[in-house]
Amino acid sequence: MTESSRFKIIAVDGGAATGKSSTSRGLSEQLSLMHVDTGAHYRTLTYALLKAGAHSENESDIIQQLSKLKLSTQIEGRSARLGIDSVVPADADIRSPEVNANVSKFAAVAAVRQKLFDYQRSLADIARQHDFSGLIMEGRDIGSVIFPDADYRFFLHADEATRAERRAKEGQTDSIAARDKMDKTRKTAPLVCPDGATQVDTGPLTLEEVIHKIAGIINS
Ligand code: C5P
Repeated sequence: MTESSRFKIIAVDGGAATGKSSTSRGLSEQLSLMHVDTGAHYRTLTYALLKAGAHSENESDIIQQLSKLKLSTQIEGRSARLGIDSVVPADADIRSPEVNANVSKFAAVAAVRQKLFDYQRSLADIARQHDFSGLIMEGRDIGSVIFPDADYRFFLHADEATRAERRAKEGQTDSIAARDKMDKTRKTAPLVCPDGATQVDTGPLTLEEVIHKIAGIINS
């Protein structure tokens, strides 16, 4: 097996609106990787928990509600999406202002992260079973907690103005600075640049330039 045909795990972390999703999707197309957006996982659980009437401060209720949620995976093109009881919620539902305002609170709850830990790690086997050349997983703790042994780890960042502009273009109401602050300061799996990760400043670059730069590192 040549180095380029070996199954690869690529971790992409960074704050909100730093370009993780567009970059990871682009790389998944270019390099035949399965793409996983773990932000969508936390959004999906937040959506389900809010629907069940759970509050982010009540961990015992959250644990009880989580035990009723059966996780499943749906492959759509190159993306693996999380479903609950075999239903993948609509993007409009998991990206609503209510979910935006609550997702970091639920993501800080240890039981919520625990529910996703084994599931997220198991996606490497699903990518292998579906004959992808590798897995690209994006989030906040992929290179630090989920796949500290990833073949490549990247940490994306961008200036505040660029990030706000990106969200505005997507028409989203989202306090990215407040979410980042909560994500960086929580006790369990805080947002950090993993040791040894390659940092990429996406602010001054176009999406194509970011993809080109990262693909170049992976292929070199
Ligand atoms: O990536 P996105 O902005 O959609 O993520 C939504 C939220 O999910 C983040 O603000 C964070 O609170 C949580 N998250 C996380 N760990 C990950 C991915 C996302 O805590 N690996």
